[in-house]
Formats: sequence, C-alpha cells, structure tokens
Amino acid sequence: MATFLLISALAALAMTAPTTTAPSSPAHTTSPNFRLLANVTSCDLTPSIQNWALTSYHVGAGEAVAVLTSDHAGRAFYVAGSPTDVRYGNASIFSDGGTPPFPEGLVVSQANETDDQGRRSVRINAGDGTIGVALAAFPNPIPSLTYGNAAEAESFGGWYACNTTLPYGAAIALYYRSLQEATPGGCADVTLLPECAGNVSTVAANAQPGSCFPSVAAIDEHDASAT
Ligand SMILES: *[C@@H]1O[C@H](CO)[C@@H](O)[C@H](O)[C@H]1NC(C)=O
Ligand SMILES: *[C@@H]1O[C@H](CO)[C@@H](O)[C@H](O)[C@H]1NC(C)=O
Ligand SMILES: *[C@@H]1O[C@H](CO)[C@@H](O)[C@H](O)[C@H]1NC(C)=O
Ligand SMILES: *[C@@H]1O[C@H](CO)[C@@H](O)[C@H](O)[C@H]1NC(C)=O
Ligand SMILES: *[C@@H]1O[C@H](CO)[C@@H](O)[C@H](O)[C@H]1NC(C)=O
Repeated sequence: MATFLLISALAALAMTAPTTTAPSSPAHTTSPNFRLLANVTSCDLTPSIQNWALTSYHVGAGEAVAVLTSDHAGRAFYVAGSPTDVRYGNASIFSDGGTPPFPEGLVVSQANETDDQGRRSVRINAGDGTIGVALAAFPNPIPSLTYGNAAEAESFGGWYACNTTLPYGAAIALYYRSLQEATPGGCADVTLLPECAGNVSTVAANAQPGSCFPSVAAIDEHDASAT
C-alpha cells in the first residue's frame, strides 16, 4: 500500500513535470522485415489513406508501381547492403516479389525521369533498388522512409500520394519530390513509417536490421495522448 502511494506520488510528479522536458518519442526496435505505413501530414484523400500500407501494382514483367493499399499487410521490405553501406547512405530497400520469389528493389525515379504530369513515380522492380533510399535513424528520433543521394544531388525531399488511374483502374500511387518542389494539388503529403514484420523474406541477401515500430497504430495513440 505504501509502495503504491509512493508510486502514485511519483507518477503525479512526472505528470506535472515542467513542459521544457523533451517529449518522449515512441519506442522503436529493429526487425529484418518491415511494412511501410502512410502517415498523412497534410491534405488527406477521401476516403482517408492514413495507415495504408505500401505495396506493388503489377504493370509489366518484373515491374510494378508502388501504391498504398487499405490492406494492412502490404508488402514486407528489408534494408540491403553492408553495415558500412547502411551507415553511409549507400544501401537500398528491397522486397520479395514473384513466384518463386526474387529480390525486387524500391526505385525512385530521378529528376530527369518524370511522368507526363511531371511527377517522379516510385517503383518496385525486379533488380536493384535506388541507392540512398533508407530508414532514417540518427539524428531523426522517428524512423521513416527517406531518400538522399549525394551523387544524384538529391537531399531528402518528401513523399506524396495521388489517386491515379493505372492500367486496372484507380490506385493511390506514391511519388517522391525534391525539397524545392511543391506537392501537386489533390495529392496527400505522407511520411512512411516502418512497422516490424518479423523475418519473412526468403531471398534477402545482405539484409540489415531495419528500425521499426511494433505497431504504427499505437504511435497515433501515443501522439494523441501527448496533446
Ligand atoms: C504523423 O503525422 C501527424 C500529422 O502531421 C504528426 O502530428 C505526427 O507526429 C506524425 N507521426 C509520426 C510518428 O511521425
Ligand atoms: C480514388 O478515385 C476513385 C474514383 O476515380 C474513387 O472511387 C476512390 O474512392 C478514390 N480513392 C481514394 C482513396 O481517394
Ligand atoms: C556503394 O555500394 C556499391 C554496391 O551496391 C559499391 O559498388 C560501392 O563501392 C559502394 N560505395 C561506397 C562509397 O561504399
Ligand atoms: C537520368 O540521369 C541519370 C544521371 O543522373 C542517368 O544515369 C539516367 O540514364 C538518366 N535517365 C534518363 C531517362 O535520361
Ligand atoms: C531469418 O530467417 C532465415 C531463414 O529463413 C535465417 O537464415 C536468418 O538468420 C534469419 N535472420 C534473422 C535476423 O533472424
């Protein structure tokens, strides 16, 4: 009972701690595989695409457009490269695709590879992924999908999603834009948060642990309780 009272008193003290205390950042861990879930930061679509998962939309042999789906499973991804590659932004992101599975890389169209509306699409294609696509860790307290590549003069722009017509109908396609560019009207700004998916790849080579959240939905609750 006395212990309980002491704990209650400490908890009460913690709750009245000065607001200069750094906000707690949601706990994350690592996993060989992870899903990538959209956190809409502005201009959500209707219906909402909050927490939709990144997956592939097949458009040709070994070629797919990266799209967001309401199916929480989405695709499982992994970081591939040596530990040194990961440390110096020289790694990339892969996923198992096809039957039997083979490695497919997450590809970001370069500035000279835009579509007919000037957008840089994101693809999940058989073969290599774009070097410099990563799960940011230090100094960012929240791991999320980033793209930076000194050789391409590409320094950490943003992701956005648009309701686009693809060969089999409407789909929510993912795009990348540089820091200088604006998100087109009607599209949602998103970050992509990694959620741990265990060790499910059967073809991963050089997979490195990826930073991820046990549950992205639980972070939303954490954010809500912090405000
Ligand atoms: C998700 O987006 C909201 C709205 O911009 C933001 O307040 C929140 O911090 C984001 N969550 C994470 C984990 O980045
Ligand atoms: C995308 O547009 C189609 C109509 O073209 C609509 O049926 C669908 O609900 C839209 N999806 C989202 C998430 O906005
Ligand atoms: C980056 O990785 C590629 C292989 O993916 C390798 O050929 C190259 O030497 C690496 N560059 C650096 C600076 O480590
Ligand atoms: C775009 O530029 C890169 C060099 O940055 C080059 O390797 C690539 O072939 C170019 N792509 C097109 C479609 O011109
Ligand atoms: C993942 O599973 C494979 C077998 O499917 C195993 O070889 C590998 O060591 C496991 N990796 C981790 C990090 O547990």
